[in-house]
Parts: sequence; C-alpha cells; structure tokens
Amino acid sequence: MIHFIGAGPGAPDLVTVRGRDLIARCPVCLYAGSLVAPGILAWCPPGARRIDTAPLSLDAIVDEMAAAHARGEEVARLHSGDLAIWSAVAEQTRRLDRLGIPYTLTPGVPAFSAAAAVLGRELTVPEVAQSVVLTRTGGRASAMPATERLAAFAQTRATLALHLSIHVVDRVAAELIPHYGPDCPAAVVWRATWPDERVLLGTLASLPAQVAAAGLERTALILVGPALAARDFRESALYSADYDRRFRPGAGRAAPEA
Ligand SMILES: C[S@@+](CC[C@H](N)C(=O)[O-])C[C@H]1O[C@@H](n2cnc3c(N)ncnc32)[C@H](O)[C@@H]1O
Repeated sequence: MIHFIGAGPGAPDLVTVRGRDLIARCPVCLYAGSLVAPGILAWCPPGARRIDTAPLSLDAIVDEMAAAHARGEEVARLHSGDLAIWSAVAEQTRRLDRLGIPYTLTPGVPAFSAAAAVLGRELTVPEVAQSVVLTRTGGRASAMPATERLAAFAQTRATLALHLSIHVVDRVAAELIPHYGPDCPAAVVWRATWPDERVLLGTLASLPAQVAAAGLERTALILVGPALAARDFRESALYSADYDRRFRPGAGRAAPEA
C-alpha cells in the first residue's frame, strides 16, 4: 500500500495526526526534499528507508514504490502542503492504477492556508471577496491552459493566491494592476511556518521592488486582493443577534443557512 500524505507547509506540528501515524508505521518514506521539512522525517520508524525524490524521474519513483510493494512494505509518499494542488499525485496514481498497486490519500494543510494564518487574515471577507483563486503562472514543467489567464481571474477581483510565481512577480504585478489598481493590498509569504519564514506587506505597485530588495526566491506565495487589508466591512449575518439559525433560533426572519 502506498500512502500519499500532504505534509503541510513546513512546521512538523502542522501535519495531520493521520499523516504522522502513517509516516510512523511505513518502513519506506519517499519525500520531495526541496519542499518537505526535515523535521517531518523524524517520525519515520527507526531504520526506515528515506528517499529524497527531488533528483528522481517519475519512472524511478514508481519503481521504488513497486519494489517496496513487492517486498510487502508500506510506503509513505510525502508532498508539501495538500495533495489536491500541484502535488503530482495524479500522474503517480495513474501509474499505480496501471500496476494494480493500491494507495490512500491523506490531505494536508495547504501553503495558502498557512500563509493566510501567518498574515492573520481571512481571505474571504463579507462583500469584499467571497472567492479565492488558487493559481500559478506557467513554468518550464507545465504550461497554463489557454483559458486560465491571470487577467481573466483578476477581472473577478477575488483574492488571488499565486503559487510558483515569485520569480515573475514583476510580470504578475503588471498584469494585475489594470484590474485591481496599483494600491491593491498584496503580500508575499516566504517559507510560511518554517523557522526562517518571511513576510512582505505592500501593494501591487510596491511588491516587485520589495521582493527584489529582500532577495526572496522559490518557496513563496503571492497573495493579492482587497480582502487582505479590509477593515471597514459589513459583518456577516450569520452571527448577528436577530439571525434565525437552526441551532440558535432567534427573532430574525432570515432564512436559515443550509
Ligand atoms: C509544487 S507547489 C506545492 C503546493 C502544495 N501542494 C500546497 O498545497 O500548498 C509549490 C509552491 O507552493 C507554494 N508553497 C509551498 N510551501 C510553501 C510555504 N511553506 N510557504 C510559502 N509558499 C509555499 C510556493 O508557491 C511553491 O512555489
């Protein structure tokens, strides 16, 4: 059995209890060394075979999984953050399906959630932003589908969480400014929850120079949108005294939320 596990953004205590228990029982651990924090490997059982997959091809990774499975050994396969986004789980499980090797998926804390917590912010704020777009810019490894353009997402003025894009922050700002304006709040969280985590707060106009001055590269999220600095927003009706809720019947006549 291969256990794909979302290892969270970095801090070892942000791995789920299920993920930690799976790591602790698997004699083989495959991990993406560039993004999975070393502290998480401390949960591997004594003598576990730990393999950094950063230098391996997909063929070699699947060979390791298949060999362990043939030996009757369970494998913990760690990916940073959550498995649902940019984890390469889809291509690995497709191979495992072809080989008839069973697997499980255990979610993890995604980097965008960790970054929002670092900023002390909710990314959806009543009447300011009610959607979060998790996206990236195209890279050498994967091009963007033609319809998924930054400008198209920006037209919604939703909160954007831009992954894998810190190296093109100038281009990102230039594409977004026509839609959000130069003064739109923007932030970079570099290595959220790692001991050397860094935060830059600014605007779309100021962010490129801030990133250049700080010399930040690689593991960083760019967050953009009015919700990041919203203070003067209406409270949601959910907790108002006169809102009639299923578990707190009151005098209000608003329809209860499902
Ligand atoms: C291959 S993607 C993995 C995303 C991951 N599966 C998730 O759920 O967040 C790597 C990108 O995620 C973001 N990222 C991952 N960990 C991060 C962290 N601790 N702090 C900031 N950004 C992070 C960066 O944008 C990085 O380039």
